[in-house]
Amino acid sequence: MTTTELETTAKMMVAKGKGILAIDESTPTIKKRFDTINTESTEENRRAYRDLLITNPNSNKYISGMILYDETIRQSTSDGIPFAEKLVADGIMPGIKVDTGAKDFALHSNEKITEGLDGLRDRLMEYKTLGAKFAKWRAVITIGSNIPTNACIEANAHALARYAGLCQESGIVPMVEPEVLMDADNTIETCYDVTEKTLSKLFATLKSQDVSIAHTILKTNMVISGKKCTTQANIDEVATKTIECLLKNVPSELAGIVFLSGGQSAELATAHLNTMNQKNKDLPWPLSFSYGRALQEPCLKAWGGNSSNIEVAQKALLHRERCNGLACKGEYDSKMEDAAL
Ligand code: 13P
Repeated sequence: MTTTELETTAKMMVAKGKGILAIDESTPTIKKRFDTINTESTEENRRAYRDLLITNPNSNKYISGMILYDETIRQSTSDGIPFAEKLVADGIMPGIKVDTGAKDFALHSNEKITEGLDGLRDRLMEYKTLGAKFAKWRAVITIGSNIPTNACIEANAHALARYAGLCQESGIVPMVEPEVLMDADNTIETCYDVTEKTLSKLFATLKSQDVSIAHTILKTNMVISGKKCTTQANIDEVATKTIECLLKNVPSELAGIVFLSGGQSAELATAHLNTMNQKNKDLPWPLSFSYGRALQEPCLKAWGGNSSNIEVAQKALLHRERCNGLACKGEYDSKMEDAAL
């Protein structure tokens, strides 16, 4: 492994005013997204949709990297240029989702363990030849009655550490993602406690497995009220509690933190990130985004599976990319949303 290579990639991923576009939905997940626009999830439709996301002119002003799915990294633009090659030509780093999904956790009902370690060293070598610079692994932590258990948090942290080690060995930056889901009726305080437990266990495990924290990117949830909670914390509270939790539990040598959107609306996800960056100018790590739905949703709707809508869909995507790029610097203003209409 060359640490210079890892350092350069990690720094570029969280370069000032830039973030990551997550387009690594698995085939079952992209089908769910396509169902919302009544579009069949054929291989060609998936390619065409990813094509418009990847070839969007000017995305590189705000996007440092895109996370691809196994099928996508093997596909090409309509002009026949492999997607990874097109991204590199535009100054955007290709990333790859390498876990094989969250499966039922043995002996623990309603909890998940992420799989994908078997054969990972060989898969990483292949992805590297296909152009991948960083890789993502998502662990799922569910809030509910008597869950998460310590067993679930520990098993997922251990898998994340083993994957991160293999990535660094291959010269690929690991983006470790322990996602505390926001779908339940829990308060923001419960989310804080679970996120704190998850992050402290994760970093202790990464260290005990000798993973270089300085060459790792954390992708995390915000500390937020569960979607079904009757009291919804406001933007300032989410920003304050998220920063407090991160400062307490994330080592300062970490290369950077990016957030997932987790089901927040596009505008709210931007507003949360903006407030965090506006109010905290001297954090130990860059604070950026790696949104899937919060970047793609307006674009997916505008496209609607119809090739005549590509231009308007790309405009909708660029608008969200720009807003989030500005939010990384605390320079976003919600008035920008009206101007875009
Ligand atoms: P969302 O922003 O839609 O939560 O997706 C981000 C992601 O990549 C989850 O792994």
